[in-house]
Amino acid sequence: MAVYSEKLRLRSGVTLKNRLMMSPMTTRQSFFDGQITRDEIAYYRERSQGLGAVITGAANVQAGGKGWPGELSVASDDMLPRLHDLASAIQSQGAKAILQIFHAGRMTSRATLSGE
Ligand SMILES: Cc1cc2nc3c(=O)[nH]c(=O)nc-3n(C[C@H](O)[C@H](O)[C@H](O)COP(=O)(O)O)c2cc1C
Repeated sequence: MAVYSEKLRLRSGVTLKNRLMMSPMTTRQSFFDGQITRDEIAYYRERSQGLGAVITGAANVQAGGKGWPGELSVASDDMLPRLHDLASAIQSQGAKAILQIFHAGRMTSRATLSGE
């Protein structure tokens, strides 16, 4: 049986303090342009307690790849300061921060893309 409290070394060389990870779960808490909100950062800080790693909800890599309102975005460098705050919040609890990248492709909608 797996011992969840044991460390886990990933192929990249990064070591997780235990084998408990939070799976990616979209919260739809970001601003209209995908900037992460303070509430969202506070949420991730709290959820990171006791975990080896946290995977964020899906984050669109291009503006046109946004799949739903409130989605976290990594589509431009403008997002970097808040993303840095997000990573720091997760890491402050001893967990590794993993960002899930995403593109909605043809499954997005005109409503989500403001008519585009
Ligand atoms: C509210 C909610 C949001 C989710 N958002 C994502 C997401 O952004 N990306 C993703 O890959 N999976 C997402 N999932 C799926 C979860 O990561 C997970 O795979 C799913 O809940 C099944 O978990 P289980 O196999 O432990 O039951 C979401 C699940 C829930 C309940």
